[in-house]
Amino acid sequence: MNSARLTLNGNEFELPTLVGEEGEVGIDIAKLRGSSGAITLDPGYGNTGSCRSAITFVDGEKGILRYRGIAIDELSADASFEEVSHLLIHGELPTESTLKSFTSALAANNDLPKEMVTMIDAFPKDGHPMGILAAMMAALSTFYPDADPDADLDGVVAGLMGRAMSIAALSYRKQKGLGPLPEIDPSVSYAANFLRLSHAESGKEYKPSKVLEHALDMLLIVHADHEQNCSTSTVRMVGSSQANIFASMAGGICGLWGPLHGGANQAVLEMLEQIQANGGDCTKHMELVKDKESGVRLMGFGHRVYKNFDPRATIMKKACDEVLGELGIEDPLLDIARKLEKIALDDDFFVKRKLYPNVDFYSGIVYRAMGIPTDMFTVMFALGRMPGWLAHWKELRDEGSRIHRPRQIYTGYQARPYVPVADRG
Ligand code: ACO
Repeated sequence: MNSARLTLNGNEFELPTLVGEEGEVGIDIAKLRGSSGAITLDPGYGNTGSCRSAITFVDGEKGILRYRGIAIDELSADASFEEVSHLLIHGELPTESTLKSFTSALAANNDLPKEMVTMIDAFPKDGHPMGILAAMMAALSTFYPDADPDADLDGVVAGLMGRAMSIAALSYRKQKGLGPLPEIDPSVSYAANFLRLSHAESGKEYKPSKVLEHALDMLLIVHADHEQNCSTSTVRMVGSSQANIFASMAGGICGLWGPLHGGANQAVLEMLEQIQANGGDCTKHMELVKDKESGVRLMGFGHRVYKNFDPRATIMKKACDEVLGELGIEDPLLDIARKLEKIALDDDFFVKRKLYPNVDFYSGIVYRAMGIPTDMFTVMFALGRMPGWLAHWKELRDEGSRIHRPRQIYTGYQARPYVPVADRG
């Protein structure tokens, strides 16, 4: 197939088609408006390809997720977050020496200007850490106005990811009253350093448990990219106006925050806690979810693309069992989550709509086991997603994309006169 025909008001239009590397077919409508005067309408973009991309492949029917061709199961089992970040941004796994220099660059570029430390301190004590992360990400552009990813991509990436980790850790420390950030340890991984920067108490030696370090590394990897989701599309949208890299990432952080996207991990935990507080009656909660009038959703369930299973959820559920098992933690919320999943998988409401656990159904329970507070969960997701956003930002810039500017079908008033205030009834 290499073209499609559209008949509109008796006229025929030939539209070129293209086929992706994995056989997916797209109809190229780039010239449709010019030739026919018509646009397409696709609220929520469920049928719209916004770009060509060589970064991540998702097959929602088969439950496949690959970064640069490598399956998520392999990467989460064998690779480090630093390797995966390099893979996403540069397209290939790093050599040993490149990996070493990328890891040291991340550790060497985590310092925050003292004014930013003061700003973080000035936010309300219970201010949401996603608000702090978004604001501070945008603020980085004011302290590093000369950061030039075209001249030194690796330096800018290291500074951005390293400082994002410090901003996240400092907002956690502020919440817990733990004082200033401790020194980073350049000999350990990004995951170990995040745990260190967050949890180390002043004057005390801190060594994160290997179980937690490994679990966090895996969590960051499974969240690292997911093609054209809401936050990544936002990064591309903002980046397409040639806004600076920090502003583009701040846009992504805001897009991620909502409970229908990255904020689902916080919403899942709050839902489990609420069920627990109400006596642990899962059936009652599920009745509420199925009552469309209630507006209640089963958080951590369902996905726009995955209609069979989310491979990240499978990895996450296993990690959850392993981490809690190895740390000897018995979390009653895990029992509630398991019960909800079982009820949903046997219930026609969910089966018919192809609703399965997504990546965030179990992730919160692992974060909880790490001692990370609920309102920090989405920040953890953002740290993991940063290399994905950066990879998409780079891809967009490399291809010299046009500014993103969708059209609309206007549904408002037709032309009418202005009425002076004195004449309005
Ligand atoms: N609980 C109950 N019903 C649901 C759920 C859910 N979690 N998700 C979808 N449905 C129902 C909808 O009510 C709708 O039913 P209908 O056909 O009778 O009207 C049908 O399933 C399709 O739902 P849509 O909202 O059209 O699906 P969409 O693809 O737009 O949304 C989304 C996907 C946002 C993930 C949705 O499934 C949801 O809200 N899930 C809960 C929030 C969540 O976990 N988000 C995290 C996603 S993963 C991530 O972003 C990292």
